[in-house]
Amino acid sequence: MPVDVVVMAAGKGTRMKSRVPKVLQRLAGVPLVQHVLNTAAQLHARSAVVITGHGADQVEPLLLAPGQVLAVQCVRQNPQLGTGHAVQQAVPALGDDGIVVILSGDVPLTQADTLQALIAQCGGDKLALLTIDFADPTGYGRIVRGGGGQGDAVQAIVEQKDASEAQRQIKEVYSGIMAVPAKLLKAWLGRLDNQNAQGEYYLTDVVKFAVADGVSVVAHKITDALQVAGINSPVQLAELERAHQLRQAHHLMEQGLRLKDPARFDLRGQIDCAQDVEIDVNCVFEGQVSLGEGVQIGAHCVIANCRIEAGAVIHPFTHIDGEKLGVTVGEGALIGPFARLRPGAQLGAEVHIGNFVEVKNSTMAMGAKANHLAYLGDATVGERVNYGAGSITANYDGANKHRTVIEADVHIGSNCVLVAPVTIGAGGTVGGGSTITKSTEPGALSVARGKQVSIANWARPQKKPKA
Ligand code: UD1
Ligand code: CA
Repeated sequence: MPVDVVVMAAGKGTRMKSRVPKVLQRLAGVPLVQHVLNTAAQLHARSAVVITGHGADQVEPLLLAPGQVLAVQCVRQNPQLGTGHAVQQAVPALGDDGIVVILSGDVPLTQADTLQALIAQCGGDKLALLTIDFADPTGYGRIVRGGGGQGDAVQAIVEQKDASEAQRQIKEVYSGIMAVPAKLLKAWLGRLDNQNAQGEYYLTDVVKFAVADGVSVVAHKITDALQVAGINSPVQLAELERAHQLRQAHHLMEQGLRLKDPARFDLRGQIDCAQDVEIDVNCVFEGQVSLGEGVQIGAHCVIANCRIEAGAVIHPFTHIDGEKLGVTVGEGALIGPFARLRPGAQLGAEVHIGNFVEVKNSTMAMGAKANHLAYLGDATVGERVNYGAGSITANYDGANKHRTVIEADVHIGSNCVLVAPVTIGAGGTVGGGSTITKSTEPGALSVARGKQVSIANWARPQKKPKA
């Protein structure tokens, strides 16, 4: 049977104390509700219906963005009269022939295999609930079993505020996630009322309708609390972030990655590591990052959208962000400390980039070096070029960007300005302090600065005596 996903995301999230709707808060760099949709996509769901309400104007553009992983329909719930009322809003958008998986937009780390197992338990004719035992079940809906000669079959979910003292002792709770045949769900939703302690339409009341209709209710109980953890406050968001990061770190270490401290590692995207990669503490990785064999990353680096080839060493405090254009660091290159590689930096093998050097939209061929305090923007740099301290490409004339070409084996002295468009011919030398506005011939020495003047025995001015 086809699977349709309903994501409840209308709630206010008061405890976040934020102008950003709760489901747009980020975990591992990704909005909470996007985690849920990514998981739904792994189920090969036919459709996703997201119930929006609070902050809908901010939430819906993300859900409906081109390239979204699933075909999403947004349905608004205003006012919010409870989880049952929320799912009622989705009814017109749901086919009768599917299994509906109900998720919450603020529960980001449920795994697809868990939901597959839940769907299998539903089997197209049963109500399947995802449950878990909590030592402290306070606040959750309790799974009431047994009674009526049914052994330990599930009889009802009783909400905290409606539960008797005896029911409050029950440790098994409803996670907020269920799989249910659409046809049955629709019929049951039509029978909900709000005669309860909170005056809300409880989705969880469908359990008693199932029991009354003789439909089996099955609980799929898991032990992994992270998968059902919801986020209501900044503290919970941070706790889940750390737990998730630690889990990612352990997963990568099982594949051979060496992390100096898995508790001080942050991955907000995808990382792909070859053998013998070492990462020191407090590094953040974003977007798509690939690290070749033996790559070493020093402490406190932020690295995004970049490919670092085998044997390269990134020294501490380096910032690399390829954004859309990407960054490539060639084999055996040495980068940093305190280097900045921006989009379109394509560095060949054995390139050296030292401290306080910025490279943007430039290629540097094998063995080229810029070791101190320099800027290379929109430049094509040949093999073995040595680019002196304090030198820059003046690539922007205030309206347009222009290219600087520095051919192989050129030596650029310190504190030079190369005013683009300009080409420095192969093997040439530019004297320190030069402002180069015209292209130079291969092999030439070019100096473009005021001639030095020295005045012999010059008397420095004296301070006047006080009156
Ligand atoms: C619900 C369950 C409870 C379960 C708990 C797990 C009900 C009645 N109770 O509790 O059994 O143990 O989840 O966390 O379902 N939402 C809407 N519209 C509404 C109300 C809620 O979209 O009118 C959304 C919220 O934004 C949230 C989700 O539904 O994403 C769950 O709501 P929440 O208030 O957190 O659940 P509880 O009622 O506490
Ligand atoms: Ca509630």
